[in-house]
Amino acid sequence: MEILAIANQKGGVGKTTTAVNLAASLSAKRKRVLLIDLDPQGNATTGTGLHKNELALTAADVLLDGVSIAEATVMSPAGFDVVGANKELAGMDITLMGQENSHTLLADALDVLMEDQQNSKKKGYDYIVMDCAPSLNLLTINALVATDGVIIPMQCEYYALEGLADLSQTIERLTELNPKLHIKGVVRTLFDARNTLANDVSQELEAHFGDIMYRTHIPRNVRLAEAPAHGMPVLAFEKNSKGAQAYLQLAAEVIKQSRAAKKQA
Ligand SMILES: Nc1ncnc2c1ncn2[C@@H]1O[C@H](COP(=O)(O)OP(=O)(O)OP(=O)(O)O)[C@@H](O)[C@H]1O
Ligand SMILES: [Mg+2]
Repeated sequence: MEILAIANQKGGVGKTTTAVNLAASLSAKRKRVLLIDLDPQGNATTGTGLHKNELALTAADVLLDGVSIAEATVMSPAGFDVVGANKELAGMDITLMGQENSHTLLADALDVLMEDQQNSKKKGYDYIVMDCAPSLNLLTINALVATDGVIIPMQCEYYALEGLADLSQTIERLTELNPKLHIKGVVRTLFDARNTLANDVSQELEAHFGDIMYRTHIPRNVRLAEAPAHGMPVLAFEKNSKGAQAYLQLAAEVIKQSRAAKKQA
């Protein structure tokens, strides 16, 4: 089981689009996937066809009430498991302020899930994908403490690298709590190959991050923007679109990376 956090505190860079469509693409490649929504906006939840305000249990119950991940999991219309989120998740920082284990609540819940899976005859998850909010709040910190690696979606625009220093610093600081924590890869999103600036920034990213850049560029594609309104990952909405094909390609890269890591271990 590999746990992936999709994070970047910059807003609107394609985190949720990446979380939902990477999960759907991994699932299409016959991987068992659980998507956990850690953003009170609940966009990843609705993006899989769930009604975020009609869920009996959400990520808030896991983090605030000790409900198990298994209990909070529902099968989404998109065809893979989801722990949803809605505005009940907001204000967690305040609720948990000063609580000793506030950083490790999600990691602890995932440990329980992993133990249950090891003891069960059923096959467990191959991937857990977590969608983070555009902030370095306690929810994102919980994701970073729980994850095996971070995937950072980045838009190739002038301020792309802004804020990245904060994320890198936070990652550095949290390796004490989570020694596995590292940047697994940076994925270029909302990419427009005809735009000179985008190409310049893309090259700058390449120079900066070298081999942790994914080869796949996610193009700006209207189908990717339309699919959530239909409660579908783009693969279900329009399989042949450039957006759907790009996320399949990204999923293939992620799977390849996992295989390489396994071999090394
Ligand atoms: N590759 C793309 N092509 C076209 N539209 C896209 C693409 N990726 C994302 N979008 C659209 O851009 C907007 C922002 O994307 P998304 O919600 O995935 O970003 P986010 O980083 O999760 O935002 P937030 O920081 O608010 O959580 C959405 O309307 C989404 O549909
Ligand atoms: Mg989002």
